[in-house]
Amino acid sequence: MPNNRAHWGSRLAFILAAAGSAIGLGNIWKFPYITGVNGGGAFVILYLFCIFAVGVPILISEMYIGQKAQCNNVQAFRKLASGNKWGPLAGWLGLGSAFMILSFYSVVGGWILDFEFRAITHLLTGDFTDFEDGAALNSLLGNPWRQLAWHAVFMSLVTWIVYRGVKEGLEKWNKILMPTLMGLLVLLFIRVMFLEGFSEAFSFLFSPDFSKLTGDGALEAVGHSFFTLSLGMGAIMVYGSYLDENENLVKTSLAVAFLDTLIALLAGLVIFSIVFTYDLDASAGPGLIFATLPTLFNKMTGGSLLSIAFFFMITFAAITSAVSILEVVIAYWSEHKKVSREKASLIIGFIMFAVGVLHVFSTNLWSDIFNILGKTNFFDLFDLLTSSYMLPIGGVMIALFYGWVLGPQSVDNTIKDDNPVLKLGLLWACRLIAPLLVVIILYSKVKELFA
Ligand code: PFF
Repeated sequence: MPNNRAHWGSRLAFILAAAGSAIGLGNIWKFPYITGVNGGGAFVILYLFCIFAVGVPILISEMYIGQKAQCNNVQAFRKLASGNKWGPLAGWLGLGSAFMILSFYSVVGGWILDFEFRAITHLLTGDFTDFEDGAALNSLLGNPWRQLAWHAVFMSLVTWIVYRGVKEGLEKWNKILMPTLMGLLVLLFIRVMFLEGFSEAFSFLFSPDFSKLTGDGALEAVGHSFFTLSLGMGAIMVYGSYLDENENLVKTSLAVAFLDTLIALLAGLVIFSIVFTYDLDASAGPGLIFATLPTLFNKMTGGSLLSIAFFFMITFAAITSAVSILEVVIAYWSEHKKVSREKASLIIGFIMFAVGVLHVFSTNLWSDIFNILGKTNFFDLFDLLTSSYMLPIGGVMIALFYGWVLGPQSVDNTIKDDNPVLKLGLLWACRLIAPLLVVIILYSKVKELFA
């Protein structure tokens, strides 16, 4: 099987695909709003620490396991450590996380498409009223059928890219969408540099005030570093399995982590420059880009074009991440069960769509049922379970597998030049530091649940 597997055409193709997976709603939607809620600079510093101390070592481990095994994630663990019973568990957990994350990710992807559609319509009709005071968000949340339609469109686009395969689907579309996304972000960034709120946004993000950092904020920084780098469910691992054996993983993962961080920070600067120019609240929460920002686009010169560019940018980011989530399941199903990629994509794509339907209904038509079940809707439940528990647990299993089961020999294979400090750092980050940090978050989360 490994010999006739598809491979990325070049190192750049892989970096764009892995960065495409990492850069998504987590960077442009979630990072700015959790930074806003957690008071800015101090949270950003902690987040940067987590990305480089925990995220990068696990990123390297995932790439290594995929690259070495040259097969889907569940089989990869079996293949690299025959006899180790626990390894494939991480693969199974990843498949579960993929179903859960993509089902709600696609619903939010659908919201973004709806906003994009509205932004284009405004330009044509000259009527901008639905971007005032959260009107578009409220009307969308109150209309499950509209949400469902956009969720179907989003899921179809994602399924189609995966259906086309590694070269013609994943590689081709990441090569088109990622540079376009970055170009759009640079244009938006240049525009906001001329806004009054730019310097305030800059100091909000980069001058830390540690008194604003809470315990919950610190935990959120660790959890988000997994989500934003796509770690813990094998998305990077499956992309690594389409990589040639001699690729330098340290450089590649640093490039991916750097791009992911850069995009999150630039997106934060764009969003907060607009928010501060109009003296609004940075801690608006999840509605920041769906309610606060659209209102402000309406007030800005050139705001209409900016809103089109902005929502295109997030659309591309969301699609390239979603395809990596679907690919985890498709690689497993098509290789292990010998189903064709095309058939697997259509069936799994449809199942993920169907799970997403529950999210749409749980926020309105069926909200009572979910209130009875535990005060929360399906959407919040899946987000909490995956970002706070399943990804960190999956990530730690991967790190432990790399650090203890594969051990120093693999570190030697990963870091080819003679750099004992780097080698020791990577080994112990995977063996000890990442697991320890995750145990701390899990402990506090579980304690909170029972408090
Ligand atoms: N990294 C993506 C984001 O920041 O939006 C989300 C994600 C993709 C999480 C793939 C996990 C994953 F495996």
